[in-house]
Amino acid sequence: MIYLDNAATTFPKPEPVRQSVNTALRNFGANPGRSGYKMSVKTSEEIYKCRKVLQRFFNVEEPENIIFTSGCTQAVNMVLKGFLKKDDHVVISELEHNCVLRPLNRLSKTMGISYTKAKVYQQDNDKTLDSFRKSINERTRLIVCTHASNVWGIRLPIERICALAHEYGILVLVDAAQSAGVLPIDIKDSKIDFLCLAGHKGLYGPMGIGVLITDKSDLIDPLIEGGTGTNSISQEQPGFSPDKFESGTPNVSGIIGLRTGVEYVEKRGIKRIFNYEMNLIEYLYKELCKIDRVKLYTGFDKEHYAPVLSFNIDGMHSEEAAAILGKKNIALRGGLHCAPLAHIAYDTVQTGAIRASVCMFNKISDIIFLVKGIKSIVLNGKNKVKI
Ligand code: ALA
Repeated sequence: MIYLDNAATTFPKPEPVRQSVNTALRNFGANPGRSGYKMSVKTSEEIYKCRKVLQRFFNVEEPENIIFTSGCTQAVNMVLKGFLKKDDHVVISELEHNCVLRPLNRLSKTMGISYTKAKVYQQDNDKTLDSFRKSINERTRLIVCTHASNVWGIRLPIERICALAHEYGILVLVDAAQSAGVLPIDIKDSKIDFLCLAGHKGLYGPMGIGVLITDKSDLIDPLIEGGTGTNSISQEQPGFSPDKFESGTPNVSGIIGLRTGVEYVEKRGIKRIFNYEMNLIEYLYKELCKIDRVKLYTGFDKEHYAPVLSFNIDGMHSEEAAAILGKKNIALRGGLHCAPLAHIAYDTVQTGAIRASVCMFNKISDIIFLVKGIKSIVLNGKNKVKI
């Protein structure tokens, strides 16, 4: 199979990640932080090592600022539902995922939260920043923006958005599901208040693990409460991070796999990974530009995009095209990618878009095979009626 659906989850996982998950299940099978016997203590130490690796990777002040979640969606929900108060206003980019939209739409019904969508201008960060500025009002307490669109690969100037927000005393949540492990993120330099991560994409961990990084944990109420293994006599949720947010038995094998994934990325070098993946997408972009019936929606350069490219074949629904390519053993995602706003912005709600996304294990031959597949659809469907 030619796997080009790495924006959904990277595949394959590096061999060391597979091995570490195996080791976790074999050797670190006791519940961490609950007991004083050897295996339980060792398991806790393994979890702590992951916090340390993430601390280094994202330049985080304290390992306690790293909170494990089930994924980026849970991390985003924790901030939106734990931080926002009645009648608050939020600014979001027009490219946000349903993990932002759906909780916000619920909160708008239950708590009177309102939000404004800021337009994102491709290759023009000044204009994008201006549209964020214009969307702020006196009730705005939070800006939510994706670091890189999961549909269009468009990058947002998160450092500048954070600086703008802080001028107004507003905090910023960055959804880095698509960028972590591909674009460098320094939480101290960029001054991100809430960084939400998926562990299973560019960080090469298993599915089911995510991270919230914040030094503002005192501003968030926990989404769930329960046993933490600490101060069990207390019937109240601990007030300190990460325990405040990590009730219940953690996903130990996921955490250990994530640690190994991040170490793997560090070893390969994030710049090298980025350049390699961008070169693959650049080749695809140039080839698609030569095919008449292929419709592209974005530009492409290394400054403004991430290694994700969506397009359509004229006269065909994206899911139909993805299904035909699937039969040729090429794995791509068609449809709306759980990001209806991003499709509204580019007028692709009716057709969706075919998305190709690479990881460090793809080769140029994968892209050549994909281009051939697209060309054969275009040739076979010459007389198709336009939709
Ligand atoms: N959010 C993931 C995607 O873009 C699952 O496919």
